Amino acid sequence: MDKVKTHQEDGVLFIILNSPETLNALSSKILSELDLILDEIWYMKLKGVVISGEGRAFSAGADISELKSLENIHQAYEYLRRGQRILSKIEKLKYITCAAIDGYALGGGFELALACTFRVATKKSKVGLPEINLGIIPGYGGTQRLTRLVGPQKAKHFIMTGEFIEAEKAFELGILDDICETREELLDKAKKLILQFEGKNPTALRYISELCNLHSDGFFEDNMRTEALFCASLISSQFAKNKMQEFLEKRKK
Ligand code: COA
Repeated sequence: MDKVKTHQEDGVLFIILNSPETLNALSSKILSELDLILDEIWYMKLKGVVISGEGRAFSAGADISELKSLENIHQAYEYLRRGQRILSKIEKLKYITCAAIDGYALGGGFELALACTFRVATKKSKVGLPEINLGIIPGYGGTQRLTRLVGPQKAKHFIMTGEFIEAEKAFELGILDDICETREELLDKAKKLILQFEGKNPTALRYISELCNLHSDGFFEDNMRTEALFCASLISSQFAKNKMQEFLEKRKK
């Protein structure tokens, strides 16, 4: 079965993560399929892209069983850099992108949403970067993109506490662009958010997105490498291995 599904509506491409049994954890398989789709849509003529998840999560983040199996800092670094590159591809798409979050968007899942131009969510959704509870830090750009949105002090707070942020609070903080009640409303809202830009110059829109990100992007690529390096060193520590094992074992009982 495909781990990522796509369909088109009114010129908007919907990319739906489709591994609900693991809350759309970003396994290598899901990331590979997503990567392929991102390459293909570069050549399509679209009005925009909505990314969402099947089931009760947008995505619960990097696949913890894969993280735990990374043998050393080099493997962990390469693993993280690959994820970073795929998420950055979303940010660099020539289309407007909107994450439509229904349920959990945590860790790498939230980082994926942060790479989109906009984010909408149902009120029951929760977003956050809980990596600290596994003894690690975000490794797919979260330290950079959340900071860009809410400023360094709030980002530090959320990443150090690992707090799950309720949708209404995330909306007030500007992390989410809109919130709604139901999943049906959500997908429609995401589509409408994109279609409101119909008729506007797509190159101008692209430039605006790039320039507004530039505001804090002076050393973005260097910072991403540093993030991956710090995260890789933590992933290969015994402290984190024990925490990840605890998470995986709890689920088996
Ligand atoms: N990686 C791998 N598997 C994951 C996962 C992840 N990030 N998140 C959830 N899953 C799996 C669980 O192991 C479980 O599998 P099982 O049914 O085979 O036991 C399944 O998805 C359902 O998750 P579960 O934890 O049982 O659901 P819950 O409702 O009790 O809790 C969450 C939901 C999101 C709070 C919890 O799954 C969680 O904390 N996930 C990890 C979030 C995280 O730390 N992300 C950052 C990773 S670096």
